This record gives sequence, C-alpha cells and structure tokens, in this order.
Amino acid sequence: MYDLLLRHGQLLQSDGTIVAVDLAIQQGVIAAIAPQITEPAKQELDLQGQLVSPPFVESHIHLDSALTVGEPRWNQSGTLFEGIEIWRDRKQNLSLEDVKTRAITTLKQQAMQGVLFVRTHADVSEASLIALQGLLEVRETVKDWITLQVVAFPQDGIFGSSQNDHLMEQAMEMGADAVGGIPHYELTREDGVKSVHRIFELAQKYDRLIDIHCDEIDDDQSRFLEVVGACAIRAGMGSRVTASHTTAFGSYNNAYAFKLLGLLHRTELNFIANPLINITLQGRTDTYPKRRGVTRVKELWQQGMNVSFGHDCVQDPWYSLGTGNMLDVASMGLHVCQMTGTAEIDACYDMVTWNGARTLNISDRYGVEVGKPANLIVLDARDRYDAIRRRAIVSYVISQGKLLVSTEPPKTIWHRE
Ligand code: FE2
Repeated sequence: MYDLLLRHGQLLQSDGTIVAVDLAIQQGVIAAIAPQITEPAKQELDLQGQLVSPPFVESHIHLDSALTVGEPRWNQSGTLFEGIEIWRDRKQNLSLEDVKTRAITTLKQQAMQGVLFVRTHADVSEASLIALQGLLEVRETVKDWITLQVVAFPQDGIFGSSQNDHLMEQAMEMGADAVGGIPHYELTREDGVKSVHRIFELAQKYDRLIDIHCDEIDDDQSRFLEVVGACAIRAGMGSRVTASHTTAFGSYNNAYAFKLLGLLHRTELNFIANPLINITLQGRTDTYPKRRGVTRVKELWQQGMNVSFGHDCVQDPWYSLGTGNMLDVASMGLHVCQMTGTAEIDACYDMVTWNGARTLNISDRYGVEVGKPANLIVLDARDRYDAIRRRAIVSYVISQGKLLVSTEPPKTIWHRE
C-alpha cells in the first residue's frame, strides 16, 4: 500500500512535455508514475487535471533582512547604496530571535506558494555573525519541509574593514554552504579583484560552492564577471560557481560583451538575475533613456548557459514590496528581458524551477521522477504559460512525501445578468 496517491495529474516533464498521470509516493520517494495506478494508498488526492511540477527554487534571497521594511527608515531614493546604509543601521539591532522569526515567516510564505528549495545570503560583515548563526539554525529547524542553503555574504566587502576577511573564514568554519562576495563594492577595483581570488581560495579550502554578488551596478566599467570567469576556468569549478545580478553586463558595449560571452562559454558558470529588484534599484542615476538594469538574460540563455531568477528581497531596505511568489519573479523577468516568444516564456518558468536547481547543485535529487525524493507542487494551471500569465494558485505542496500545504482557489461571483 502506498502512502499517498495523486490521481489525474498533468505532469510537466523536464523536456517540457505534459502527460496525464497518477503518481504514487512511498516513504518519501516517488514510487510510481503511470497513466493509471490501481493499487491502494493510505491517502488519495484527486488533482482534477491540474499541472504537476517540481517545486519552485528560490535561488537568491536575503532572509536576514526580509520583513524589515521601514526599519529604521524607508529607502526614499530607492538606490542600492541607500539600502546598504539603512541596513547598516538596522543590523545593529539584530538578535538571533529577530533573524530566525523573520526568516521562518518568509520561508513559510514561500513554501505556501510552492518554493521548497532556497538559497539565502547571510550578511557576515558584523563581528557577532548573528545573521549567519540565525540562518544556520533556521536551516536545521526547517529541514523537514524546506531545503535551505546559506551563503556567507560580506555585505561591506571582504577588504572593507580589517576584520571582514577573518569573519569569512569563521563563517566557513561555522558551516556556511557557499562563499559570497561583492567585488564592485570593495574600496578599490584592485580590492575587488583580490576579493574574487580570495573567494575561490576559501571555496577550495573548505570545499564549498560560490555565489558572488557581481557587478550589481550600472557602471559599464565594472568588470568583475571576467575575473570570476577566469578564476572558474583555472579552478575547473564553473558549475559550482554562480554570478548573481551581473547588471553591469546590460551596460557593457557590445564589442566587450561579445568577447565576454566567449569567455563565459568556457566556464559552465551559473547566472542569477533578480528582475523585481534590479528593475527598481538600477537606472536610478539615469535620466532618459533609463536603463532596465538587468543582465543579458536572453543572450545567456540563447547561448545555452544556466540562468535562474531569484526574488532577492522581500520587504527590506532594497525592495519594499514582494510576497515571495516565484511566478511574480518569472513574470517580471519575462517583461524586463522581453522574453515573450513561446519558448522564451517557457524558459522563464524553467528559470524558477530546473535552472534554479542546477544553480543550487541539487539536480540529482530534484524533479518529479520515479526514485527521486517526493517534492512536487500542483498548480491550478494548464501549462507554464498559463501559470505565469495568471500567477496560478499552488493548490498542493508535497514536501518529502507528505502534504505540506493546500490552498483553495478564490471564488468570484458575478452578481448581474
Ligand atoms: Fe542579493
């Protein structure tokens, strides 16, 4: 007898095809997928032809600052740099309880909307390392229903003060999953280059992934992506490395951009664009025409490179809006990157699912396939296009073989003839 049987689903497969199936789950694993399963189960759900998909992947979020909007003040200029100033004040008051409560509330909000894999950055620029400690404890607390990766993120630069390099090393010893960085915010260009080398050194020493906030600025001279690419080629670890944001790439002249694409092609790097945040943060010093401030998503995707979309911020000093819904992210990405062709729309959905899993280096355990851990979502949608266009409700979230969340679609009544 199976533990859970899902009847009448429309399974979205990794090649984009959709097939009518029943799915059986036993001991946390997908035990069978077939047009019809007749064996009994302890629990059954009739999906009534809804779309079955692997869960959404949040590949880039800052849980330590989530839900702090307006504390101690609102970001009136809307710039990245005012956001960093506000956060510098707010983080003086961080406590373990404060970080954990806001992080878990945000994760629940995301899980309710189908997110079961999350990579968060934790600011490690404070001697107390409270944000990191809190998020590592949260990783443990939530592990039965959501998988969390924590990046040690030196918000104020690895060489921004004398203590920060040591704090990075300490963060690795505490168990951060990935080494972060912010080369464009280091005190000088040389420090930025040095920071990228230091990040690779730490990742190799502690055997960790890398996820760098890279060139998150409109400055067309911010060129740390090429340094990341070169280090990845020499270290032979491109698939374990992620370049987040890379918004300056949108401002590079084409001669340089095409040369850079050639270099990137050799790397297997992962890219993360955060369209909700970058469309609002970037271009703030422009008059008109005003830049979109998002990296060359379409071109990277066309070149076959792995690109995912992240939410980045939920109600914090950098972005006052957001609910943690990855279909909002995919929709904004689709608009800002002008990915309106049919294959492009489907690709935007993949950027918050399969591509995100590849970025997190979890592809081996991700996907709705027999033998894999039973993590899946059921969407009130026909296909990927329908899901993004209507921001479809996630009717069921199945995590590690068990029903985690169910949501009834809202009911609207028309009262006139
Ligand atoms: Fe970020």
